[in-house]
Amino acid sequence: MTDLSALEKDVLDAIASAASLDELETVRVGAIGKKGSVTGLTKQLGGMSVEERKEYGPKFNMLKNTVAKAIDERKAVLEKEALNARLQSETVDVTLPVNGLDQGSIHPVSQAMDELAEVFADMGFAIAEGPEIEDDFHNFTALNIPPEHPARQMHDTFYLPENADGERKVLRTHTSPVQIRTMKNQQPPIRIIAPGRTYRSDSDATHTPMFHQVEGLVIDEGTHMGHLKGTLEAFVKAFFEVDNVTMRFRPSYFPFTEPSAEVDIQCSWKNGELRIGEGDDWLEILGCGMVNPRVIEACGLDSAKYQGFAFGCGIDRLAMLKYGMTDLRAFFDNDLRWMKHYGFMPLDMPTIAGGLSR
Ligand code: PHE
Repeated sequence: MTDLSALEKDVLDAIASAASLDELETVRVGAIGKKGSVTGLTKQLGGMSVEERKEYGPKFNMLKNTVAKAIDERKAVLEKEALNARLQSETVDVTLPVNGLDQGSIHPVSQAMDELAEVFADMGFAIAEGPEIEDDFHNFTALNIPPEHPARQMHDTFYLPENADGERKVLRTHTSPVQIRTMKNQQPPIRIIAPGRTYRSDSDATHTPMFHQVEGLVIDEGTHMGHLKGTLEAFVKAFFEVDNVTMRFRPSYFPFTEPSAEVDIQCSWKNGELRIGEGDDWLEILGCGMVNPRVIEACGLDSAKYQGFAFGCGIDRLAMLKYGMTDLRAFFDNDLRWMKHYGFMPLDMPTIAGGLSR
C-alpha cells in the first residue's frame, strides 16, 4: 500500500520547486498524467475489499484534486513570471532618436486606406471588419444574390474545397458581406466603412486577383438618396483634396441596392496628367445605392422602419488616380525601387487638419 501522505508531500514539493513551465509539465505528467504516480493509485482499488475501496477511493480522488490545484496555482505563478521576463527583455526605449526611417515606407494602398478612414471618421463613420474567407450566405445569398442569380457569374469567384459539411467557402469577392455582418450585430443607427482585401479571378493592367475595396453603410430612419450624394461628394472632395468636383450618378444595377447607381467624377487628362474636378472627361470610381429592403430584412431588421445607403469603391484604383500610377500589378510586385518611389513617410499620419497626403 502506498504511503499517501509521503506521495502527496513528494509531488507537492516537486511542484513547488518546478522552475519553469516545462519542468512543471514534467511533474504534472509524472503525477496525474496517464501513467502518473497519483493516477496509478486507482489500480490498487482492484485488489481491495469493498470497505477499503470506500475508504481509499475518495482519498485517491482528493489527492488527485489537491495535486491538480497545486499545479494550476504554480502554473499561474510561472506564467506571470515568464510574461514579466519577456516584458523586461523586450522593452523599447521610446525616447531614443529614430534612425533609419528611410528604410521603410507606407504602401500607397495603406496610405489611401488611412486617408479614407480619416475622411470618414470625420463624418462619424466607424470602421467595421469581416473575414476574407466568407461563406456563401454572407457573400451572396443575404445580399439578395440567390444561387441561380446571374450576378454570381460576374464575380469570378475563388471557391475553397468543400469542407466536411459539404460547404464551399469563398474568398470574398467584395466587401459587401461586411454590410450583413454589421446589420446582424448592431442596432441602427449604423454608420460604418469597411476597408479590406477582396478577391476575384481576374488579372491585367487594371485588375489583380487580390485587390482592395472600401464598403460604406448607413442605416437609420429617414435616410434618403440625398444623404448618399452628400456623403460621397464630401468624401471625393476631401480625398482628392479639391474644392469642387462634379459627380455623375448613372443608373445601374446591384442586387443588394435599389435604386443603384455608378458614380463618375469629372476630370481632365491634360498632357497625360490627370486632374480631378476640372475638364470634361469622366472617371468611374464606385458603385452605390439605397440598401435593398430584402437585404435589411435578411439581417433581421424592420425594413418599414429602417432604410439606408451603401457604396463600394476600389481602393487600389483610388490610389492609382490620386498618386498617378498606371499599372496596378506593380502594387503587389514588392519591387523595392517602386516602393521607395511611391511609398509614404512612416510617421506622417494623414489628418484632415494637417493635410491628407502633402
Ligand atoms: N459590391 C459591389 C461591387 O463589388 C459594389 C457596391 C457596394 C455597390 C455597395 C453598391 C453598394 O461591385
